[in-house]
Amino acid sequence: MPGDRMGREEMPGIYLDQAATSFPKAPGTADAMYRYMTGCGCNVNRGSYAGAYSAEELVYDTRMQLCRLFGAGNAIADPKNVVFTKNVTESLNFLIKGLLRPGNHVLVSSMEHNAVMRPLVQLEKQGIRFTRVPCSDDGSMDPADLERLIEKSTKAVIMLHASNVCGTVLPAAEVGNICRTHGIRFILDTAQTAGVLPISMEETGADAIAFTGHKGLLGPQGTGGFLIREELAGELEPLITGGTGSISHTEEVPNFMPDRFEAGTLNLPGIAGLNAALNWLLSQPEGSILAHELKLTKRFLRGMEDAEEAGRLRIIGKRGTEGRTGVVSIVPLRMDPAELAFKLDELHGIATRVGLHCAPSAHRTLGTWPGGTVRFSFGVFNTEREVDEAVEAVRGIIQGAFRSPPGPLRSECF
Ligand code: ALA
Repeated sequence: MPGDRMGREEMPGIYLDQAATSFPKAPGTADAMYRYMTGCGCNVNRGSYAGAYSAEELVYDTRMQLCRLFGAGNAIADPKNVVFTKNVTESLNFLIKGLLRPGNHVLVSSMEHNAVMRPLVQLEKQGIRFTRVPCSDDGSMDPADLERLIEKSTKAVIMLHASNVCGTVLPAAEVGNICRTHGIRFILDTAQTAGVLPISMEETGADAIAFTGHKGLLGPQGTGGFLIREELAGELEPLITGGTGSISHTEEVPNFMPDRFEAGTLNLPGIAGLNAALNWLLSQPEGSILAHELKLTKRFLRGMEDAEEAGRLRIIGKRGTEGRTGVVSIVPLRMDPAELAFKLDELHGIATRVGLHCAPSAHRTLGTWPGGTVRFSFGVFNTEREVDEAVEAVRGIIQGAFRSPPGPLRSECF
């Protein structure tokens, strides 16, 4: 069986690609999935027997956990306004394509990932316009720049909470305030921050928060969703429709939550895993995960600074730990980024992500287009020893490149 080949030995010695997907997952996640698959396995909303009820409880409980995690407060206290999807990209497609109509204009940051940009570029052909709010070359945004770009037809701001390329956090609360003042919808993409940064739907004033389960939430791939204020949900056309197990007498799409947006069978083993991961996350002392990740980030940045001063590489984005997550990009100056990433893996068993990280607009903003960067991303289970090994490995490889004559630089997009 192909799956049998994916054992622990497939994982690299040092996994620093946590921004792509976290590893390992929270304690109990895999066990919960196994228990669901072997002990219950029932569908929800479709059966009137004990197993179906217990699966329903599991799903309801997970919606409650997500309300808690995202500080949903009174605006959304009802867990029915938590919708499950298979990932944040699907969530953003639901929100973007469900909300926007020809003639609408939207604002995005110039740091966006293709999860936002590709749906918008697709919609441009239908007469939906967007403007990128220019961010600075460390990825920061001045909310005043965003406010200046609001037009009469601006319907929404769609923005990531932190960059997947350099970790810079964008001013979500300030942007939320501006949106409220101007009567504009605010959609926040928390792909890189959920489970790590405190996020409050109340405080940010977000109308919808899109999340993924497999990164900072430490759950399985194939899980994600969005939280949405009820009045916005009413404005949204569902992207996918079909059977929901409710009001089966009619062929009309249900207009109640969450069924309006949850056609077809949910990823129940995934939700069981996500539930266990959220249990673990919510039991951690407040702020402890962010503190750990930033401690590792600081250590790594310190380790890179000497090499930068010696003219061997460039650190991209912020230098300090203020207003950032545990994601750091670097550009080696005497070798192709892909070669550095390849050697880190081959010689040291260190996994990173190289290239453009599905975020060409961010790389243009940061001045790293088209060559891209090597990205290191730290998670809650990484250690200081792993960071030190990565620092030594980068320094060694880069020094080696300076001893040999410079080769041609190759630019590849990943
Ligand atoms: N968007 C994810 C990343 O940055 C997959 O790697």
